[in-house]
Amino acid sequence: MKRILLTGITGQLGEELQRTLVPFGEIIGVDRQSLDLSQTEQIRGVIAQIQPDLIINAAAYTAVDKAETETEAAMAINATAPTIMAQEAERIGATLIHVSTDYVFDGSKNIPYTESDHPNPINAYGKSKLLGEQGVQQNCDRHIILRTAWVYGVYGKGNFVKTMLRLGTQRQEVRVVVDQVGTPTWTGDLAGAIAKITQHNFPYGVYNCTNSGAISWYDFAVAIFEEAEKLGFPVQVQQVVPITTPEYPTPAPRPAYSVLSGKKISGVLGTHLPHWRQGLRQMLKQLYTQK
Ligand SMILES: NC(=O)c1ccc[n+]([C@@H]2O[C@H](COP(=O)([O-])OP(=O)(O)OC[C@H]3O[C@@H](n4cnc5c(N)ncnc54)[C@H](OP(=O)(O)O)[C@@H]3O)[C@@H](O)[C@H]2O)c1
Repeated sequence: MKRILLTGITGQLGEELQRTLVPFGEIIGVDRQSLDLSQTEQIRGVIAQIQPDLIINAAAYTAVDKAETETEAAMAINATAPTIMAQEAERIGATLIHVSTDYVFDGSKNIPYTESDHPNPINAYGKSKLLGEQGVQQNCDRHIILRTAWVYGVYGKGNFVKTMLRLGTQRQEVRVVVDQVGTPTWTGDLAGAIAKITQHNFPYGVYNCTNSGAISWYDFAVAIFEEAEKLGFPVQVQQVVPITTPEYPTPAPRPAYSVLSGKKISGVLGTHLPHWRQGLRQMLKQLYTQK
């Protein structure tokens, strides 16, 4: 059985992976207490001690707006830490699966980004994640970089779906940006894809890895309320109002369009990741039964 070192187990994806991967390996999950990713010597020490066959890095500095001012922290976790992991993986012959983001792109396209499109991040978070990708590529031949997007699930601290459900019980009207388009991705589907990758003799490289389809945040909010109501969530909201990005200014600019083509990964997996609405229904069902 493969020894798998998994970081970020208190996060949305990390906890999902910790549960999903149980049948596929001996999982050694680490949280911030057992491995602080801002401490490079700790990273080296833990990897040397555990001697994993596979490292899955699901940890990241994910506070996109805060990263504009806490740039050093974002760089340490998103750029330096994966680079060190890659060096150590290379040294011990391990494979590294590293999770990255659609925010490495500037959003100027209007058709899905492929893996060979030129990254050009427009915020500090995206810049730190791109440097992390490059550090992984330059230091470990056996790497798989998965670019995902708009991640949500039942675990972790919070996400757009949970925020909408909360606002939906408190307000009659919710205002949501309509001019940013991407693909919401359920951690259940993402973890399922990663589980398959660990089982395959998966070719190394960079892959887009999101649910299928594309939608604006506004349309996603509408879908969340529709699906939540069907399941019996107490939705009070009467109106979802589409607004533009300038009407909802944030410290970090976001790409207007960050849909990622799933062609490459589906070619290897032999199947597409499910449509975002299917993922949303599954997540809401899980949340509902946990209540
Ligand atoms: N969320 C999104 O919408 C989104 C979109 C595109 C790509 N991604 C990528 O997908 C991956 C998973 O994201 P997620 O949404 O699951 O993230 P998340 O819920 O914010 O979880 C991040 C994890 O990283 C850990 N972490 C942060 N700083 C650390 C440190 N110094 N030492 C050790 N652990 C640390 C956190 O630990 P604590 O709980 O202790 O803070 C947490 O377990 C990341 O690579 C992210 O960049 C996310």
